[in-house]
Amino acid sequence: MDLLKFQIIAFVPLLLCIPLAHGWGIDGHLIICRIAQSRLSRAANNAVSQLLPAYASDDLGSVCSWADRVRFRYHWSAPLHYIDTPDDLCTYQYKRDCKDADGIADRCVAGAINNYTNQLLTYGNGKSASQYNFTEALLFLSHFIGDIHQPLHVGFSSDRGANTIDVHWYRRKTVLHHVWDSNIIETAEKRFYDSNVDELIDTLQKNITTVWSTQAKAWAACSKTTCPDIYASEGIKAACDWAYKGVSEDSILEDDYFLSRIPVVNLRLAQGGVRLAATLNRIFG
Ligand SMILES: *[C@@H]1O[C@H](CO)[C@@H](O)[C@H](O)[C@H]1NC(C)=O
Ligand SMILES: *[C@@H]1O[C@H](CO)[C@@H](O)[C@H](O)[C@H]1NC(C)=O
Ligand SMILES: *[C@@H]1O[C@H](CO)[C@@H](O)[C@H](O)[C@H]1NC(C)=O
Ligand SMILES: [Zn+2]
Repeated sequence: MDLLKFQIIAFVPLLLCIPLAHGWGIDGHLIICRIAQSRLSRAANNAVSQLLPAYASDDLGSVCSWADRVRFRYHWSAPLHYIDTPDDLCTYQYKRDCKDADGIADRCVAGAINNYTNQLLTYGNGKSASQYNFTEALLFLSHFIGDIHQPLHVGFSSDRGANTIDVHWYRRKTVLHHVWDSNIIETAEKRFYDSNVDELIDTLQKNITTVWSTQAKAWAACSKTTCPDIYASEGIKAACDWAYKGVSEDSILEDDYFLSRIPVVNLRLAQGGVRLAATLNRIFG
């Protein structure tokens, strides 16, 4: 009894320290930002170089997870990483779904993408003192275009984007949301790319210019500066068709699930990179 009590007391602080997953893991964001930076126009590349903090050494990928690191300091930004949609509907509508838990409109990842795009559109418009921090706007936008492409970042409300669905990834305990943030990518890197993320990035880039070249033009297309509603609608559909499908509490996910879902993860990473580049190219002319 005492031992049990001790274990509970010892464990509670530990549990409180485990951050709620919020977005692709570090590698997912790195991949998307590296792909994007390699596709920037000269003007966009110059603007990004000027806006990146010095410690990034001109590498957008190195600061692509900055928004996750400031989630606790900038508490208001937490709802901007995802969208909750009604359970089992498998559709997304901006007006219905883009709000935070208090019902405040626009506070979701699609609203944040519009917000930081609009801020960046005023960059260099001649007014010297801006109300915006353009460095933060660039880092938020780059991160959120990544997040909206993680299928479970547009998920069901009651399970908080599958954060409450316990599963096993092979022999390890985790939650379904984390499988899509990190486990699928990490297992793929280990098994197919010698644990080298750069090789995965190279392969994705090669595919974007070959097998995906026609589709990539369609991914980039957008009648406005950016099109988060399209990305979110695709996201909830992929969540239903691939992420949630066949999974229940305590499911054991291994090769069958892994091998059939990798193509979806590869596609979403490629789309995220292409669309982040296209958005920044439209913003900075
Ligand atoms: C828009 O950006 C500002 C500045 O970072 C922030 O205070 C506000 O919460 C953001 N709103 C949304 C919906 O992203
Ligand atoms: C803009 O934001 C960055 C990152 O939070 C910060 O380091 C920098 O000091 C801010 N710039 C201004 C002018 O406030
Ligand atoms: C790249 O395309 C090839 C050929 O379609 C495919 O077999 C491979 O899985 C793709 N890899 C990635 C990372 O997209
Ligand atoms: Zn995030």
